[in-house]
Amino acid sequence: MLFLFYLYCWSLIGVFGADTNEIQSVSVMEGDSVSLNSDFAEMFNGDITWTFGAEKSLIVKIKIKKQIFSTFDGPDGRFRDRLKLDNQTGSLTITDSRTEHTGVYQLQMLAAKLLSKTFNVSVYARLPVPVINRDCSSSSSSSSSQQNCSLVCSVVNVGHVTLSWYKGNSLLSSISVSDLSISLSLPLEVEYQDKNTYSCVVNNPISNQTTHLDITQLCHTTVQVWQC
Ligand SMILES: *[C@@H]1O[C@H](CO)[C@@H](O)[C@H](O)[C@H]1NC(C)=O
Ligand SMILES: *[C@@H]1O[C@H](CO)[C@@H](O)[C@H](O)[C@H]1NC(C)=O
Ligand SMILES: *[C@@H]1O[C@H](CO)[C@@H](O)[C@H](O)[C@H]1NC(C)=O
Ligand SMILES: *[C@@H]1O[C@H](CO)[C@@H](O)[C@H](O)[C@H]1NC(C)=O
Repeated sequence: MLFLFYLYCWSLIGVFGADTNEIQSVSVMEGDSVSLNSDFAEMFNGDITWTFGAEKSLIVKIKIKKQIFSTFDGPDGRFRDRLKLDNQTGSLTITDSRTEHTGVYQLQMLAAKLLSKTFNVSVYARLPVPVINRDCSSSSSSSSSQQNCSLVCSVVNVGHVTLSWYKGNSLLSSISVSDLSISLSLPLEVEYQDKNTYSCVVNNPISNQTTHLDITQLCHTTVQVWQC
């Protein structure tokens, strides 16, 4: 009997979500919708709040008995016209997401006991295509050899990205930036006669953009004279 009782309790914990302290990670591209599922479908009978960020700003309040479903604009109004609430399940959708919606979201339901669910949402900006140019400022382009061509790959207005040069499939060099939206550039020196394939790649944790180097086009002598 005791065993059955334990089994019953255990299954109840299963229903209520045993890992309520576990943080669920969600990664999307800017512009995508973010769906945060309550998983409370069967027992949505308490009052629900959704909060955002370390400050726990209130963004959703549901009082089920009074049939009150409220959404709030949040810090700096960043959620204005973007929150969609499923009034059957308490699940929340953020439409047309922006990087400023990155952060921790917490759902709490006060029923027989306090249930909570935490989501760690990362919204990544869409990546620009990297641009490869002759590097006319490079010391080697003026002083050094006639066989070498100095290049630079750049991206503008990026944050949380890595910019890399590849020779075939092997990584030659890379540079990373976190936080701020800035410009990044990474030099490369190749010989004019080099027949390898080179590519410049910008990537964040969920996407990438690649530009292939055309040595003939960029390093050809007449172009060199014209560009540098
Ligand atoms: C709940 O959602 C349904 C369908 O979206 C809608 O018809 C209904 O009016 C909503 N109820 C409340 C109280 O907002
Ligand atoms: C949320 O995810 C980001 C990126 O994966 C990570 O750096 C950060 O530490 C996570 N935050 C929490 C509270 O888990
Ligand atoms: C020319 O480029 C090659 C390949 O990147 C490099 O190994 C070499 O040191 C460069 N030579 C000069 C004179 O800069
Ligand atoms: C770029 O993304 C594609 C899939 O989207 C993946 O197959 C490829 O390995 C990625 N390349 C790099 C250099 O990260």
